[in-house]
Amino acid sequence: MTSLAKQSPTTVAAIQTCGLGKVFGEGRQRVIALDDVSIELCSGQMTLLMGPSGSGKSSMIAALGGLQAPDTGQVIALGEDLWSRSSRKITRFRRDHCGFVFQSGGLFPALGARDQIALPLTFLGWSAAEAKRAACEALDWVGLADRQDSRPSEMSGGQNQRIAIARMLAKKPTLIFCDEPTSALDGKNGANIAELLKQAAARHNAMILCVTHDERLVPHADRILHIEDGRITSDSEEDKPYAANR
Ligand SMILES: Nc1ncnc2c1ncn2[C@@H]1O[C@H](COP(=O)(O)OP(=O)(O)O)[C@@H](O)[C@H]1O
Ligand SMILES: [Mg+2]
Repeated sequence: MTSLAKQSPTTVAAIQTCGLGKVFGEGRQRVIALDDVSIELCSGQMTLLMGPSGSGKSSMIAALGGLQAPDTGQVIALGEDLWSRSSRKITRFRRDHCGFVFQSGGLFPALGARDQIALPLTFLGWSAAEAKRAACEALDWVGLADRQDSRPSEMSGGQNQRIAIARMLAKKPTLIFCDEPTSALDGKNGANIAELLKQAAARHNAMILCVTHDERLVPHADRILHIEDGRITSDSEEDKPYAANR
């Protein structure tokens, strides 16, 4: 296996993985969640990661997004060997570069939409005025500029998921990870979210890795990866089954 860290920085994708492996449990309980996964993900592209339940999709997001260490292999994120760093540096990397959106938006019930977005930015050290300005811009971008003071209970599921996306985008992350972001939404709202994410990838030159079961997102994606039993089984950018994992 070659070390990805030794490649020239000019050829480094937003994220590269090499031989990524993750196992849970022991003996009869042993499950291989990621099995020798080697992929490259580019800036400015939205990639869908699709596969059945238990195939390793969330484990992949966890390993690539600095949330849970793989057992084997490397993740080169923005040119740095992510898991060779101290946990403090990994936390800082996540904070500075990564954005996450999960199935349910994880919004604060008591906050209006603008504060929902601005408050986390102040935790990152932004001034109140900067945070408010960025929050208003992000709300405008997801088409909810007129809902600045609305709380989650006063909005639909689709609107709340757009707020969660605005909150994630407000700090302009370079690496965006979404885990089933549309699974609680109907088809039209799901398509809106997918289109917003795709535009975000293009506009901010961000990498987006979006885990989904939702076939309706396929037309919005730049690239589709399929995963089964922890192995990448197909890649729409390859015209043949994914060779590196054979
Ligand atoms: N914390 C954990 N402890 C034990 N097994 C786990 C844990 N997380 C995931 N797994 C197992 O690893 C496999 C892959 O899980 P996951 O990545 O969550 O799949 P997906 O997101 O595709 O449903 C599954 O068999 C799951 O049960
Ligand atoms: Mg999952």
